[in-house]
Amino acid sequence: MLPDQFLQELKYRSDIEQVVGSYVNLRRRGRTLSGLCPFHSEKSPSFTVYPESQSFYCFGCGAGGDVINFIRRIENLDYMEAIRFLAQRAGMQVPEDAGDDRTARLRQRILEINREAARCFHRTLMSDEGRPGRAYLIGRGLTRDTIVRFGIGYAAEGWDGLYKALREKGYSREELLQAHLISEGRSGGVYDSFRNRAIFPIIDLRGNVIAFGGRNLGEKGPKYLNSSDTPVFKKSRNLFALNFAKNSGRRELILCEGYMDVVSLHQAGFTNAVATLGTALTEEQARLIAQYAGEVLLSYDSDGPGQAATQRATGLLEAAGVRVRVLAIPDAKDPDEFIKKFGAERFQQLIEGSSSATDFAIGKLRQQHDITTAEGKVAFLKQFAVLMAGLPNPIEREVYLSKVCRELEVDKTAVAGQITREQYRRGAKERKKAERELIAPPPRQGGLNREDELLLRQHPREMKAEERLLRYLLRHPDRAEPLRERLPEERMLSESDREIYRVLLERCRTGQSLELTALGEQLPPQAVDRMTGWLLPGAAAVTAEEAEDCLRCLNDYAARMSREQLGQLSGEELRRYIEALNRQKNKQGD
Ligand code: GTP
Ligand code: MN
Repeated sequence: MLPDQFLQELKYRSDIEQVVGSYVNLRRRGRTLSGLCPFHSEKSPSFTVYPESQSFYCFGCGAGGDVINFIRRIENLDYMEAIRFLAQRAGMQVPEDAGDDRTARLRQRILEINREAARCFHRTLMSDEGRPGRAYLIGRGLTRDTIVRFGIGYAAEGWDGLYKALREKGYSREELLQAHLISEGRSGGVYDSFRNRAIFPIIDLRGNVIAFGGRNLGEKGPKYLNSSDTPVFKKSRNLFALNFAKNSGRRELILCEGYMDVVSLHQAGFTNAVATLGTALTEEQARLIAQYAGEVLLSYDSDGPGQAATQRATGLLEAAGVRVRVLAIPDAKDPDEFIKKFGAERFQQLIEGSSSATDFAIGKLRQQHDITTAEGKVAFLKQFAVLMAGLPNPIEREVYLSKVCRELEVDKTAVAGQITREQYRRGAKERKKAERELIAPPPRQGGLNREDELLLRQHPREMKAEERLLRYLLRHPDRAEPLRERLPEERMLSESDREIYRVLLERCRTGQSLELTALGEQLPPQAVDRMTGWLLPGAAAVTAEEAEDCLRCLNDYAARMSREQLGQLSGEELRRYIEALNRQKNKQGD
């Protein structure tokens, strides 16, 4: 963990007004500054910078935090990367880097080596020796521009071309081994790891070359060879071409299987395509994707393994809070082949045509009715309500309801009522749920994940109580001990609230500061957004009496839950309940 003193100094030297000002056009308004939010699109400025507390907050989208959080978001960096970014700007040395000098230097060297190697591969490709490589890539339809943009290269057939070139530049055998650019033979000699391959450099979000993928041009050996993990590269944490795709300006990413798919897609104008690095999608990659996209178009190969991978990936992405649409690719084995056969426009049509099952069903209904007439509209809406009543997810229902009512220019409440009636028919249990949802308050702003949105609809009182308690704790760290005793963390319903609660209590216990900067190291950006909102100058403070009420509310709920017949709980509630019981048991066992 970074020392508080360093963070203070870093923040002191990274004035938020200046840092933000280099990204956003800010206008002074009294003690604050405002501008158009860089994190969502808007026409009137709701993005505000508070020089006094050195923080920012957007009233439109709820993004907020200190200067570090700002850099994290705008530069798409993780916490430590943002710290390094600002430290470099301020001319400061990050203590962690200094303390761990040897590994830091090795990492630095490997990054240099990779950059040199990438240059070398690329130069070779463009030279006489690279003729086979060029012939192959051009044969696959790549233009010179694409080759240069991706820095694609060629590893020649010889055994030690790269080894010799890099040794001449002063890199040691050991360093080259660590970078996995050379391998050790049985007799102790070394040889280039990549031979007779087209080389795709893998570049991270800061523009470092962190690894390579090599496509075999010959018969011998595996079709693709990917760098193994090195001190600068972890396969499971990176995505090919995310460095380009993050700047595509789109809210969705296209996820494919192969390097060639991505390169072809970018060349055809789909600059939001990325790929995993020769492995199945991992949880870490799914979370990484969630930072950049609200939606993923899954574009895996159309063969059996590709379809199995699609299912797996869908699960992981949805768990990370990303919506998934699946692109079915007809008459071609992968996106690369499809584009080559049918062109970019047809691929765009695939994207537009790709739809969720519900969209598809609504589309069909619309075809069956003439919605330009009043009767047609009524008939359509009746069947639409039946369709909606069958959807298990209330959020999804809300989304379609709003969309269709907007399109048909009809009043939402009327249709919502119709849906409720349909649900009534579907049985008493569902009816109850629907009524709860229809009277639910609007969701809180900023950083709400799907699970929380659902919880908020089902348990608005408890969720409000949780948030209030957290706000109270944030301003009254001295109350941490009694709170911890009176409200064990598992009584918090929401996973994200529980995480904040745990971190706050822990930091209070060990006497660490509750500053946003420090909290950002342990909590996800969404949590920091929310907390920034709570700490805004105008935000109402939670009183001790209110905190008492909240405590009572949550403890009552817990008591109610333990009394209630287990049979009446939903599957999810039951799972939570049993988990909580187990945790209590384990505690008593200690
Ligand atoms: P092309 O034949 O060049 O179009 O490749 P592709 O992308 O269509 O290949 P495929 O669908 O077979 O593989 C998809 C991805 O899996 C590749 O981009 C690689 O990352 C990975 N992959 C394929 N073959 C191998 C292999 O032999 N070894 C390893 N480690 N990865 C492979
Ligand atoms: Mn292919």
